[in-house]
Amino acid sequence: MKMQQDKVLLLDNNFLYYNRLMKRKISILGSTGSIGRQALEVIERLWDKFEIIALTAGSNVELLNEQIQKFKPKYAYADDKSKIIGAEYKTLDEICSDKNNDIILVAVSGRIGLKPTITAIKNGIDIALANKETLVMAGDIVMPLANEHNVQIIPVDSEHCAIHQCIKNINQVEKLIITASGGPFLHKSIDEMKNATVEQALAHPRWNMGKKITVDSATLMNKGLEVIEAHHLFGMNYDKIDVVVHPQSVVHSAIEYKDGSVIAQLGLPSMHIPIQYAITYPERYEGIKSKSFSFSQIARLDFEEPDWDKFKALKIAYNCGKIGGSAPVCMNAANEEGVFAFLKGEIKLFDIIDIVEKMLEKHEIIQNLSLDEIFEIDEEIRQKTRDILVKK
Ligand SMILES: NC(=O)c1ccc[n+]([C@@H]2O[C@H](COP(=O)([O-])OP(=O)(O)OC[C@H]3O[C@@H](n4cnc5c(N)ncnc54)[C@H](OP(=O)(O)O)[C@@H]3O)[C@@H](O)[C@H]2O)c1
Repeated sequence: MKMQQDKVLLLDNNFLYYNRLMKRKISILGSTGSIGRQALEVIERLWDKFEIIALTAGSNVELLNEQIQKFKPKYAYADDKSKIIGAEYKTLDEICSDKNNDIILVAVSGRIGLKPTITAIKNGIDIALANKETLVMAGDIVMPLANEHNVQIIPVDSEHCAIHQCIKNINQVEKLIITASGGPFLHKSIDEMKNATVEQALAHPRWNMGKKITVDSATLMNKGLEVIEAHHLFGMNYDKIDVVVHPQSVVHSAIEYKDGSVIAQLGLPSMHIPIQYAITYPERYEGIKSKSFSFSQIARLDFEEPDWDKFKALKIAYNCGKIGGSAPVCMNAANEEGVFAFLKGEIKLFDIIDIVEKMLEKHEIIQNLSLDEIFEIDEEIRQKTRDILVKK
């Protein structure tokens, strides 16, 4: 990578002004994951616009160390801190307390994203949010807190990024229309889906993502999580959020205004674009764009109603979202444990959703949760889910 030398501008006799000061200072939580790696590809193209404060991994310290060597962050985190080379160790929370950050990209997977996001918000640092679980588990806490601290939450998910780009005045919006590719089982029978292998579930036709989200895309639980995210991000009631299946993944989502006008955001299916939008917002740069968009090359765009019987997860997520309180926390925790068990080959794909339903049936809903209560319920549901899985 070509590092641009900091230009030194002589403004008057005694005052040296470094354009480095103008760079956006960013930390990436989860830099070794699918979103994190693509974010670094975006930043590499826009190196004169960014300075990296911290990068973090979970277990993949080898890749983290390569990233440290290339991008020279001051701080880094990994599960095994003794293996970090070339950067000072800091926890995710410590990184998010560092007010030198202008923006933090939260691209870790799972519940681990929630606490550091809250810490960053309390420190007035803007968030580019990829981690879905943050809003699914605690949207009622996170969004008001962001308002209180005047912090922007800019969505990275391509659907929410699309809606963010389409909305000018939320009060004029009639409904949100979230598109779904339909995943690898869109036109497969229920029986084929029941007996799906891990390999088949991970073979997403459009997006190359981490394993957890890819399995969620196969069951459409991912779309359900996105509906809950959209409710919190844009303050829309659930009956004003539609999901439509759109296999080409070119229309990333749309909004319908009260006067009947529909505005959609289109683009080639690449996560580089929404990641770049989120971390450079409100600016726009050419950056990593690979080719120009051509309607004639795309030729056709298809849309269809989701199959609610085959993709029960979507219905469950809508219901949990509407109930609110601990319902989405329970659903998310049981689903995540179910996905991990499926990935280990311990259960079948449909068992994931059966387990989620079972856990929800037994769960007594609690409203107005504190953050501590959310984590307690999350842990309790995970434990109970694991107990059921062991007995299976
Ligand atoms: N991928 C996409 O296209 C996409 C699109 C929209 C939204 N999202 C959301 O973005 C988030 C990340 O997705 P992804 O696909 O990038 O996931 P991923 O490829 O599995 O990457 C997850 C990242 O989180 C790190 N991590 C996992 N557990 C950790 C822990 N306990 N402590 C610290 N770090 C930990 C991983 O580190 P190691 O790999 O080093 O262990 C990795 O850097 C998810 O919430 C997902 O729903 C993803």
